[in-house]
Amino acid sequence: ELIPYIFGIQTLAERIKQMFNLTEVIIVPGDSQDDYLAKRDLGRAAARFLKRNLYLGCTVAVTGGSTLAEMVTAFGDGINARDVLVVPARGGLGEEMEQQAGVIAARIAGAIGAQYRLLHIPDNLEESTVEILKNDVHIKTVVQAIKNSDILLHGIGSAMEMANRRGLASEEIDYLQEKRAIGEALRYYFDKKGKIVYEVPGIGLEFPDLQNIGIIAAVAGGKNKADAIKAVLSHQHESVLITDEGAARKIIEEN
Ligand code: F6P
Repeated sequence: ELIPYIFGIQTLAERIKQMFNLTEVIIVPGDSQDDYLAKRDLGRAAARFLKRNLYLGCTVAVTGGSTLAEMVTAFGDGINARDVLVVPARGGLGEEMEQQAGVIAARIAGAIGAQYRLLHIPDNLEESTVEILKNDVHIKTVVQAIKNSDILLHGIGSAMEMANRRGLASEEIDYLQEKRAIGEALRYYFDKKGKIVYEVPGIGLEFPDLQNIGIIAAVAGGKNKADAIKAVLSHQHESVLITDEGAARKIIEEN
């Protein structure tokens, strides 16, 4: 379909907003699938969004990933958000260091002069270990802060790509395929209709907690992620999408 190409970015944003019942859609030009600058712009847009929404005493939770990692250098000088707390949304040291949620949380906090707290917990733990850790008093305090977040910024990935990146077992991958998982966010895997089909156990934010978070913004772009973004947004827990033109056009095109 060619018609969508005559839409300007504003019109695209408006259409996507209505499609997923969002309050705000921000679209940066370009396509971060093949243009690094577009991904950098996504990080900038997310940083601007966060600055605009910060308030005294608020807690901000962030996930990992290369897109969110672009936020850390995008704040500029002169922000002193001393009363803000930044936390990782879920524990996890499994990813490349620069892309770990904790590292990103600490660096964002550094950039805006905020406080941070970390969860030093590896990914892919056995469930029994997770249960023991959840009862540790130090972990409990951090988890409580995370569950009380006011703003959540999270990445979205393609289900299979994330399953591979996280080194899921082949039975898990088979299961995801059987359930037709398309998108991933916060360690939850979603099918085309936005139904959660699988969850990797972990510590931190869980789906029921999302109800109490005022602002939930997904930050993800690239036309290769269009289906994943649609799958995750179809679950209807976000209020904001920060994306790029490549993903946005593909999302509209296929509708
Ligand atoms: O692993 C954290 C995470 O936010 C995932 O939930 C998401 O699928 C992924 O990173 C996105 O990563 P990237 O921005 O590198 O595509």
